[in-house]
Amino acid sequence: MIGILKAAAAIASVGLLAACGSGPAPGGGSGGGDGGQLTMGFSQVGAESGWRTANTKSIQDAAAAAGVNLKFSDAGGEQENQISAIRSFVQQRVNVIAFSPVVRTGWDAVLLEAKNAGIPVILTDRAVDTQEKDVYKTFLGADFVEEGRRAGDWVVKQYASAPGPVNIVQLEGTTGADPAIERKTGFADAIAANPNLRVIASQSGDFTRSGGKQVMEAFLKANPKIDLVFAQNDDMGLGAMEAIEAAGLTPGKDVQIVAVDATHDGMQALADGKFNYIVECNPLLGPQLMDLAKKVVAGEPVPPRVVTPDEAFDQQQAAAVLPDRKY
Ligand code: AHR
Repeated sequence: MIGILKAAAAIASVGLLAACGSGPAPGGGSGGGDGGQLTMGFSQVGAESGWRTANTKSIQDAAAAAGVNLKFSDAGGEQENQISAIRSFVQQRVNVIAFSPVVRTGWDAVLLEAKNAGIPVILTDRAVDTQEKDVYKTFLGADFVEEGRRAGDWVVKQYASAPGPVNIVQLEGTTGADPAIERKTGFADAIAANPNLRVIASQSGDFTRSGGKQVMEAFLKANPKIDLVFAQNDDMGLGAMEAIEAAGLTPGKDVQIVAVDATHDGMQALADGKFNYIVECNPLLGPQLMDLAKKVVAGEPVPPRVVTPDEAFDQQQAAAVLPDRKY
């Protein structure tokens, strides 16, 4: 009789724990999804660029196609909003958390909270700096150093026979963000091959068109001769293009523009001769993210780093591929 009562009490307490959402989380939380459906909490940076819009759509479409219950949160560019979103995903006991970090540092505490709750984390698009062990399963995204290097290599070739100094200005992405840090490094490494290539000014335009325009206006006022802009994304390049035109100069000719992303608007500017070169950063990460999430939740091994391949385009190549671009 005592045994039966103990068993009944044990069953009741399991039921209570499950109802409270505080039970064990094998391969993730209890899900918050219906009928065994995988639930993913995704914290997005914001909507700062054409790239980001395409990335969000790719993730939402891929989740729907893969039957993943997606809880999507837009951080509006604020790290504290991302931390709150991740904490809320932990409380909701989703099966897996994915996020694209606004900046590289400051994630240790929240990543440990997810780890201690047994909820796996996948980094998408951008990396974090952390001393903590095993706080994420994999990082899916492009090689940003390589993107900067490819942009710089094109500049080196373009100005190989320049007789004198070439004045370059750089529009950096969000301060502290992984792509801003790494593209700057790759670009600097590459242009070091030619001492004539000088970065005379470099400032953040926050990966936005308005930011790029504002910073470029200031650069044009302060520097009588600018030969080339390296914009760390298309949106800032498009803002710079507007500023150059407003100053009575011709973008693509008087001032060359090299950018990263290859979004539709950037590629249109390239095909129109207003940009000179674009290194692609592919935002269509959704399908790969859903595959990785399913594996991680099933306890299958995944590589710690998944690098997405990128192309690069000059003006003729842009005109040729533009009609079939997906973003
Ligand atoms: O992290 C990817 C970068 O973030 C893209 O290059 C930029 O457009 C975006 O905002």
